[in-house]
Amino acid sequence: MRVLNLYCGIGGNRKLWGDEHDITAVEYNPDIAEVYKDFYQNDTVIVGDAHEFLLKNYKEFDFIWASPPCPTHSDIRRCGVHAGQYEALYPDMALYQEIILLQNFAPKHQKWVIENVVPYYDYLIKPTVMLHRHPFWCNFKLPFYEVVDERVHNDIAGHSSVYGVSLDKYTIKDKRKILRNMVNPEVGKYILDRAMDKPICMQNTLFEGIA
Ligand SMILES: C[S@@+](CC[C@H](N)C(=O)[O-])C[C@H]1O[C@@H](n2cnc3c(N)ncnc32)[C@H](O)[C@@H]1O
Repeated sequence: MRVLNLYCGIGGNRKLWGDEHDITAVEYNPDIAEVYKDFYQNDTVIVGDAHEFLLKNYKEFDFIWASPPCPTHSDIRRCGVHAGQYEALYPDMALYQEIILLQNFAPKHQKWVIENVVPYYDYLIKPTVMLHRHPFWCNFKLPFYEVVDERVHNDIAGHSSVYGVSLDKYTIKDKRKILRNMVNPEVGKYILDRAMDKPICMQNTLFEGIA
């Protein structure tokens, strides 16, 4: 399949996708893109604006995954504004623009999924399913399953190994944030498998916690 992995970060969602697909990944931070490229050397990595890339290229792929940034939607923002820690910001409508674009214009054969966080406001478009405490919007059947993940988000530090991924050998800023941003790779695989209509076969035992 021709796969597009937008806002790819270091590729938590992509970790268990294997090498059978032709994957294009887009990330605007060159240092993060460099790490992704080191992890997934067969992928085509584009350093650029994922939102723009989607609009120009959405017809070219069989499967699209997008993880647009969540900080302007998250309850952490709302609490931070009330606590005087953050300035108020408009919620970034790129999230809903992408959902609306794909809901209306995706080619018939294409499967797509967009993930984000539970927002501090009422959803403008209801998600298809909640998995691992995250809302997902998609155009294929994505049955709920209980994700078992012993990772404690707040325990993640820059030197942690998360889902078997360590950034120790890289000189890159914000390692903690990058590791915390990772989608659970089992969730990434579960979703790609559903998009490909593979039979469901869950072990229900996911990864160890944080090393
Ligand atoms: C939530 S993280 C992605 C996590 C990734 N899916 C994973 O599982 O590891 C979002 C990423 O999008 C990148 N980003 C934010 N805005 C972007 C944009 N307009 N274009 C491309 N990348 C962007 C950030 O640098 C960050 O690495």
